[in-house]
Amino acid sequence: MSEKKFSVVIAGGGSTYTPEIILMLLDNLDRLPLRAIKLYDNDEERQGRLAEACGIIVKEKDPNIEFTATTDPETAYTDVDFCLAHIRVGQLPMREKDEKIPLKYGVVGQETCGPGGIAYGMRSIPGVLENIEYMEKYSPNCWMLNYSNPAAIVAEACRRFKPNARVINICDMPIGMENNIAKILGFNDRKEMTVRYFGLNHFGWWTSIKDKDGNEYIDKLLEHQLKYGNTLPDEGNNGDYTDNSWYETAKKVKDLTALDPTMAPNSYFQYYLFGDDMVAHTNPEYTRANQVMDGREKRVFGECARIAEAGTAEGTSLEIGIHASFIVDLATALAFNTHERMLLIVRNNGAIENFDKDAMVEIPCIVGKDGYEPITIGTIPTFQKGLMEEQVAVEKLTVDAYEQGSYHKLWQALTLSKTVPSANVAKKILDDYIEANKEYWPELK
Ligand code: NAD
Ligand code: G6P
Ligand code: MN
Repeated sequence: MSEKKFSVVIAGGGSTYTPEIILMLLDNLDRLPLRAIKLYDNDEERQGRLAEACGIIVKEKDPNIEFTATTDPETAYTDVDFCLAHIRVGQLPMREKDEKIPLKYGVVGQETCGPGGIAYGMRSIPGVLENIEYMEKYSPNCWMLNYSNPAAIVAEACRRFKPNARVINICDMPIGMENNIAKILGFNDRKEMTVRYFGLNHFGWWTSIKDKDGNEYIDKLLEHQLKYGNTLPDEGNNGDYTDNSWYETAKKVKDLTALDPTMAPNSYFQYYLFGDDMVAHTNPEYTRANQVMDGREKRVFGECARIAEAGTAEGTSLEIGIHASFIVDLATALAFNTHERMLLIVRNNGAIENFDKDAMVEIPCIVGKDGYEPITIGTIPTFQKGLMEEQVAVEKLTVDAYEQGSYHKLWQALTLSKTVPSANVAKKILDDYIEANKEYWPELK
């Protein structure tokens, strides 16, 4: 392997995920040697609350790695090989509004699914495009590994507005689920499995899981999921779940698999296929955004303040973002031409034969130094195709609405979402969202 060392910028440096991603990068220096880590955010105060601790963590691990935190795009994006982008335009208080507004009308209130994802998408598009432009201006050979949400809508905007940009859109959900699938099937590591998967982001299915010798395990998995969902029967909430909400989600896979016992579904289908159950189990006054603000955000910012005060990260409670190691896998594949097989969100372009070639789909790709090559899926069944066509239209209409400043396109997007019962309800949600997003959305006519 080459002696080259890489320079990385984390866009959305003030994210709750930043310290754990830095720990993950530092834990993988043997695979991806680094010479610089930079944090970039457009909110100096927020990023500042993490930056000092992150600087201490880097220095204690390897004082030769240059650490910078900045709000200046030129400083951030000059001389970088990879941009890890996880921005949240509007931050967590806007996530709270995305979730609570639909719940007022009895509709699913979720970060990326249904109305919440549409509202968030309208805010994210310009933020992500702006960062791509900085990258192209200051480091034209840099790759952006983008996991800013809502990834499906952001990916469609990238396809449309930045078709040649060196941006790869990716999500950790299949990886998190595959960690559990590996345990269910008795593998030591998810990388012992070769999977086939197709769909949209937060909207796909596993159709095959093979071991290294080519033996098929999908039927064994489906049989398990019909009984226990994506959980292990005896683990309770003691397994590898960030919190109880994710444990409940893994259990709910049981109901999703019951509806089509031939494929293993992404757990995000709970919001589309069992929206009534989701609404019934959500407190409209205290949603996931509140759980995250009271949980992960307090924990991470509190611990960073403690590290800064102590002047050392020794004994820190911050944990390596293990799920996030796929980011190093992806960067390593690009840097060292590893030809790793990874699920990415890419233009369909015929990979799913009976589906729109211009849809952004999530499918396995082979990643090497020139980017990715998607694997062919073939034809998909009517149920999955119907669901995907409806959802991809929602995503495209949202980007149309952004591009054209069109009220009607956004109303149509909301109306078409499987989570919304009627155009009446869609209009009420839309009008509330317009009011809440004045600072962020283009004006809609
Ligand atoms: P957060 O609000 O804690 O952090 C996001 C940061 O982005 C904030 O500090 C904010 O100031 C900054 N930001 C906003 N607009 C910006 C811009 N234009 N340029 C630079 N910085 C900007 O959010 P979080 O909960 O830590 O999540 C971060 C993001 O990562 C979200 O988009 C979330 O949905 C996403 N995420 C994706 C995956 C995945 O698998 N796809 C997994 C986890 C998180
Ligand atoms: C999964 C998804 C991400 C999403 C996250 C939300 O990891 O893949 O796209 O951002 O969950 O988790 P949270 O704990 O913030 O609700
Ligand atoms: Mn995701």
